[in-house]
Amino acid sequence: MEQITNFIGRYKNYNFPTGQTTAEYIDSLQSFEIQDSDIFLVTYPKSGTIWTQQIIISICELDGSLNEYPNNLEQMPWLEYKLVPQDYALRPSPRLFASHLTPALMPPGLKDKKAKIIYVMRNPKDNIVSFYHFSKANRDLETPKNFDHFFEEYLMGNVVGSSWFDHIRVWHSMRDEYNILFLTYEDMVLDLKAAVTKICIFLGKNLSEAAIEQVVEKSTFMNMKKDSKANYDFLLQDRMKGDFMRKGKIGDWKNTFTAAQSERVDQLLQEKLGDLSLKFIWE
Ligand code: A3P
Repeated sequence: MEQITNFIGRYKNYNFPTGQTTAEYIDSLQSFEIQDSDIFLVTYPKSGTIWTQQIIISICELDGSLNEYPNNLEQMPWLEYKLVPQDYALRPSPRLFASHLTPALMPPGLKDKKAKIIYVMRNPKDNIVSFYHFSKANRDLETPKNFDHFFEEYLMGNVVGSSWFDHIRVWHSMRDEYNILFLTYEDMVLDLKAAVTKICIFLGKNLSEAAIEQVVEKSTFMNMKKDSKANYDFLLQDRMKGDFMRKGKIGDWKNTFTAAQSERVDQLLQEKLGDLSLKFIWE
C-alpha cells in the first residue's frame, strides 16, 4: 500500500484509511467466496451507510433470520476493514456486509448475480459537508484545515474512498453486471417507508404492514440516535470525538457552501456524470 499521507494509504487506485486494512487482505477478496444468501450494502462514505445498515438488519431480524451480535458493526461488518476479527466463512447465513469499495476490488463472485447488493447514493453537496464534519470527528481521518481546503481535496478525490464521482460512475455503469438495488439518501429522507418497502421487496422479505412500520420506527434519525446498537457511539472512546449521527438532513450544504462552490459542483457533475441522467434532490 502506498502511503499518500499519514492518514491515507492507496492501493489499486483506491484510498484506504491507514492501518485498517492491508494490500494482502484486499487482494484476498478476489478469492472471497460469495454465498447466494449474502447481502452487501455498498456506498461512498457518508452517504447513509449506517442508516441503511439499520434498515437491512431490522428487516432481517424481523423475519428471524439473524443471530444476535452486540451491535450493527458486528452484525454487518465492513468487508474491507478488519475491524471485526473473525472467519467470515464460518458466519451463519445470511451474511451481511457493508463496503465502500469499487467493483474492481469486490469479490468477483458477486457477478454471479445471486448475492444481493444495495447501493446508496447521496447528493455530493451534502456528502461533502457530512464528510467534512466526520473528518473533524474521526481520529482515523485527517482533521481538515478548513472547509474550503477539504472541499478541494474532496473534488480531487484525495480523501478516503477516493473520488465520489468515480464511485458513482463505476457502480452505475456496471449495475447490469450485479444483482443491485440503487437507492438515494434523499429518497430515504423523503419517504422512509417507501424505501424500506423497496428494500424488503428486493431482499425477497414478505413483511406485514405492521412489521414494515416497525422497521421504519427503528430507523428514524431520532430513534437510531438513541439505539446503542445502531448509533456507533460504541466507537466514541477510541476513534470518534463527535457523533456519527450528526444532522441527517437534505440541504445542509446551503449552510456551508459559497455560491461559487455550489456552481463548481454543478459544473463537475455535468462534466463527469452528465451522461448518466442521474437526478439529485438538493433540498
Ligand atoms: P450528516 O453528517 O449529514 O448528518 P454514513 O453512515 O455513510 O457514514 O453516513 C452518515 C450520514 O448519514 C450522516 O449525515 C448521518 O447523520 C446520516 N444518518 C445516519 N442515520 C440516519 C437516519 N436514521 N436518518 C437520516 N440520516 C441519517
